Amino acid sequence: MESCSAQSSSPAFFVTVGRGLENFAADEIRAKLLASRVEVIEGKVFFCADVTKENLFSLKMVERAFVLVKKINSVRLPYHKVSGFRLLCKLALEDVRSWKAAACVWKRLHVSAEPSLSRVRQGGADMCPHAEDAPRKCKLTAFSEDISTTKDRSRNKDTLLYCAAEEEKEEEEAFQTTTVDLAQQRPPADIFPELLKDNLSFRVSFRCSGRNGRRYNPQELGCQLGLALTREFGWKADLRKPQLEVIAHLNNDIFIVGFPLSRVSLANRSWCRCPGLRPTVAHAIAVLAGVQSGAKVLDPMCGSGTILLEATMEWKSAYYMGADIDCSQLSSASSNISSSKQSIDLIQASVLALPLQSSSVDVIVCDMPFGRRFGRGNDIMSQTRSSLREMIRVLANSGILVLLVSQKMSQEVIKMVEEGKCCQYKTQINSAPVDEAKLPGHARECEPDERACGEDSSSTVDVLSLQELVPVSLGETEARIHKYVKVQHEGKRTS
Ligand SMILES: C[S@@+](CC[C@H](N)C(=O)[O-])C[C@H]1O[C@@H](n2cnc3c(N)ncnc32)[C@H](O)[C@@H]1O
Repeated sequence: MESCSAQSSSPAFFVTVGRGLENFAADEIRAKLLASRVEVIEGKVFFCADVTKENLFSLKMVERAFVLVKKINSVRLPYHKVSGFRLLCKLALEDVRSWKAAACVWKRLHVSAEPSLSRVRQGGADMCPHAEDAPRKCKLTAFSEDISTTKDRSRNKDTLLYCAAEEEKEEEEAFQTTTVDLAQQRPPADIFPELLKDNLSFRVSFRCSGRNGRRYNPQELGCQLGLALTREFGWKADLRKPQLEVIAHLNNDIFIVGFPLSRVSLANRSWCRCPGLRPTVAHAIAVLAGVQSGAKVLDPMCGSGTILLEATMEWKSAYYMGADIDCSQLSSASSNISSSKQSIDLIQASVLALPLQSSSVDVIVCDMPFGRRFGRGNDIMSQTRSSLREMIRVLANSGILVLLVSQKMSQEVIKMVEEGKCCQYKTQINSAPVDEAKLPGHARECEPDERACGEDSSSTVDVLSLQELVPVSLGETEARIHKYVKVQHEGKRTS
């Protein structure tokens, strides 16, 4: 069993992160917060750091941030429910100093209301380009009624607890916990002076899954934890508008308790008037693109411009351009750009015929159409193949292409690239150079099976080389980020 806060002089935190983005978030936390003891599990990153409100809330890859009160590995609640409740409360409250420390950090860092952030709800299933992110359900624990009758019940419970404790002794010892008498652990009257003075109101949100979830109801667990907190610290339950939310997650691997530092997700962006791709995923695409100073960056299917906007905020000294075939998408992008006060050029164009010179762009980022709104099947695959060909054409040699594609399309795109079905053949007949300026936005292209274009021709083949593949979750949809670099092969061909 481990408590991060007990092992570091810096306060302990954890953040929730979209599936697949954990390592991006961990890197960002190390770099921006100079964090230590960074630990990644699915959907969460734990760390210790001395943070200010500003740098904590500047994180771009995370959903929500919490002060960590308690983290215990591998908790298995006993079969007998009363013993289970007792063990859970004991584990949660056995070190009241961690509650005090966490409460002080929470008081310093929490943001009670973010009108500018909550103005726009982002990532809703209805708005998202891939019909992603079904609204998350949160279980609130109703224990306020129980509190009025705590005294009567606790008498009965004490009896029950006493009996059960004897019965379940062996099982509890398997967790290597020391038996703690909560009464002896009661903190001195001044342990939460400020919070008690404020007459702190709170509620517990409990999530429970795995084998513990099969036996225990999260409401009941939250209720028991809430009662224990009221007994210990005198906090007042308020399910509607609590000052402090206590969240507890219990699954097969871990039991964590924490205090959220904001009500809304850090993934919400103040500039976002027209939501598109989830900003954390867009940010990961921008990170993978590795935009260098002075680079020309293109999103040829920019929608509301989320990926480019995420990139401009972080890497300002580059030139950004967005293209989309759909005027209404371009006006969404324009609205976001003006509210962000960033500079991005927009053009209406098809990705199948971009009005750009060959090899003129250093980085392409693209969230390919898929999902309910964009159809599927052969149509979309042949469109994808043609789109890739055109992207390769405008991309400079050694340029970077980062694509977001659905999990289903991912394998097909990899195959398509490996088999050279979207590569660009440029042919110079009799070594006479092709004057690209005279071509309408296109170099001379041949289909892969149309290779012998001249009697005595030299050709180059532009291909993509796969660098990274990152599975990410878009809520309801699973997707993959592909990162490629454009490589040019040269060869003289004679018929
Ligand atoms: C998945 S959405 C992109 C969403 C975008 N990343 C955002 O954050 O809003 C795909 C976009 O591709 C555009 N699109 C579809 N076919 C296109 C084509 N042939 N040329 C250019 N854009 C196209 C659609 O209008 C749509 O905006």
